Amino acid sequence: MYSNFDELRENCLNCRECGLCETRHNVVVGVGNPKASVMFIGEGPGENEDLQGEPFVGRGGKLLDKMLTAVDLDRKKNIYIANIVKCRPPHNRDPKPEEQEQCIRWLRNQVTLIKPKIIVCLGRISAQKLIKPDLKITKEHGMFFKKGNYLMMPMFHPAAILRNPNQKPDAFADFLTLQKKIMEICPETYTDLG
Ligand code: URA
Repeated sequence: MYSNFDELRENCLNCRECGLCETRHNVVVGVGNPKASVMFIGEGPGENEDLQGEPFVGRGGKLLDKMLTAVDLDRKKNIYIANIVKCRPPHNRDPKPEEQEQCIRWLRNQVTLIKPKIIVCLGRISAQKLIKPDLKITKEHGMFFKKGNYLMMPMFHPAAILRNPNQKPDAFADFLTLQKKIMEICPETYTDLG
């Protein structure tokens, strides 16, 4: 467990604990404000993320940024974005359970340092790993689940919305639900985050 962010990043960038290190171009540690009260957690880097070293920078990322902007959230200012696995699974396959298990210590360390109040899980893989293994994203998206100190919300993955644009109104409604909760329990997100 690292006690500061720079140390964590430095060590994460050199991680070789699972086979994904063999094919990666970059370790995608995360992006955002380490003082954020709201974290977004996806599944793992895709091709663009692997090449650029930042989460959600492809087409799905552009859509995510649009929806974030609509509720005054900004990856550079008032949230933090990370993934369950930090290295791209070849051909964008789902990360294997053992890869998730190996990698999640980095995410746990990030969560411990950031201490968010709300964690948004983007997509099934993230929500099933972090909330409950039998979570049904189509049924339970937009709901809050209390886990320890955190309020957790599953949302549709941006790539799923791109594949299935009729999910857009529901996805947008979830962002509005999130905005309301932020105003209620962590209004500093919109005012005085350092
Ligand atoms: N999909 C994810 O789950 N995470 C990313 O960073 C990019 C695509």
